[in-house]
Amino acid sequence: MSTTLDELATPSVPVRTPLKRTVLMCKPTHFTVVYRINPWMDPALPTDTALAVAQWQTLYDTYIGLGYDVHLIDPIAGLPDMVYAANGGFVIDNVAYGAKFTHPERQPEGPAYMEWFGANGFDVRDPAEINEGEGDFLLVGDVILAGTGFRSASDSHAELARIYNRPVITLTLINPSFYHLDTAIAVLDSGTPDGGGEIAYLPSAFDEASLAVLRERFPTAIIVSETDAAILGLNSYSDGYNVVIASRAVGFEQQLRERGFNPIGVDLSELLLGGGGVKCCTLELRS
Ligand code: ARG
Repeated sequence: MSTTLDELATPSVPVRTPLKRTVLMCKPTHFTVVYRINPWMDPALPTDTALAVAQWQTLYDTYIGLGYDVHLIDPIAGLPDMVYAANGGFVIDNVAYGAKFTHPERQPEGPAYMEWFGANGFDVRDPAEINEGEGDFLLVGDVILAGTGFRSASDSHAELARIYNRPVITLTLINPSFYHLDTAIAVLDSGTPDGGGEIAYLPSAFDEASLAVLRERFPTAIIVSETDAAILGLNSYSDGYNVVIASRAVGFEQQLRERGFNPIGVDLSELLLGGGGVKCCTLELRS
């Protein structure tokens, strides 16, 4: 086999190693859109709960196929957004910081998730400040990236720093369509407590000060297109090699392949009607 000049010029693709993940999910048994707390939601549009369940099942099956340990919390009637488990809290070292939701429609989810954490052996911390869990908090290397602007209050970032004794970097979101941090940033490689980590993000979702921080800290980050972000393509979940993404995010898929990741597309179109995707349905349990 001969080697072409083009091949010689191609930078080598890193070899990636998947890490086994433990996650919490909630079946969308009661999913529907009956209120509007983000621009994606329109109560006038019909939703198909059976289809939402079937699509969610595909995500669940994908995680099982990847060898993840998937825990389930019982869905509660009247809490249609409970399927977005990422908002149920934030967990590092078995310590679960509970969620305190912005909107009254989701507030009962906070105690429901805390009860699950308590019953499953986690050290639960009752939140004093408004925060929407892993929807706005992302662990990368030795720091926690924390979103604010629409949902989690910046006071929760200080609470987070106190609980976990780690640096917390505040990032301000400015586009209502990307109201949670996990709609604007994807953690592709979570690094180690000593540092590292790789992300993908959508620059236009952030204010200038936050962008400056992201550019400095992650100079080689993947910058996704507006098109891919507009279907919540960034709302993905990675184990360091396999990255479960929205199947329609074809540009992002290509970018991931070029970096040595293994993108796996799933279609959660029904759950997109509530303003959520892959990551929103996934809460990482770090023990
Ligand atoms: N309808 C939900 C809300 O607006 C969607 C939450 C999406 N979750 C996420 N982690 N981005 O609160």
